[in-house]
Amino acid sequence: MRARLGVNVDHVATVRQARKAAYPDPVEAALLAELAGADQITVHLREDRRHIQERDVEVLRRVAKTEVNLEMAATQEMVSLALKFRPDTVTLVPERREELTTEGGLDVMGQKDALDRAIRLLQDGGIRVSLFIDPDLDQVRASHKVNAHAVELHTGRYAEARGFSERSDELGRIRDAAKAAAKLGLGVAAGHGLHYTNTIPVARIPEIQELNIGHSIVARALTTGMERAVKDMLDQMREARADLVKPAR
Ligand code: PXP
Repeated sequence: MRARLGVNVDHVATVRQARKAAYPDPVEAALLAELAGADQITVHLREDRRHIQERDVEVLRRVAKTEVNLEMAATQEMVSLALKFRPDTVTLVPERREELTTEGGLDVMGQKDALDRAIRLLQDGGIRVSLFIDPDLDQVRASHKVNAHAVELHTGRYAEARGFSERSDELGRIRDAAKAAAKLGLGVAAGHGLHYTNTIPVARIPEIQELNIGHSIVARALTTGMERAVKDMLDQMREARADLVKPAR
């Protein structure tokens, strides 16, 4: 049985925000992803609102037929928003304003008090809590200690590894962390930087129940849809002059 797929639609919103337009709509993309078989929709509401907006989470929560996974920092503001939107799962992630994307996992023990508080409030609100951590045994144990339901293993270093030995070392770390997490009774997800060229070895790890994938899927949707989009515009341009008399030669 395959792992569940959470499709992250953040970068549909990135294209929209580039023009501050109303389209493309990440919620519309989410519904299409569900029609294609996605098991979950993942969105990251960042402190700087660079892509996903509060409106997106609110509408998504109302119309999604699968599950909604909200990625967010463990701040008071975000916990209040999560309790308002009530996603099925919150994945707590570290967040730095200047980063291009989530660059590393949480330091669970280093942030124990803030995480304890956030996890308790979210769980009391009926929300499942997952922690985005590096594939590191200490972080897995720490996640168990703070009573998380699940961990999401950061696959970024694996995705960026160069050469066979570096890549198999990183894959080994993911495999060991997944095994240890499952043994402790934690749910196990993985994600970040997964592509059509590197997902299979991670998807084969039996303890991994879920993959969250965004950038590569949105990028492929853009390129596979380009031909159709250009043809549609050319059709309109032809249509625009269909009733005009041809100029005499
Ligand atoms: N999982 C988490 C926790 C993330 O922060 C991200 C990026 O927002 C992803 C998965 C998806 O990563 P990518 O867009 O590289 O597939």
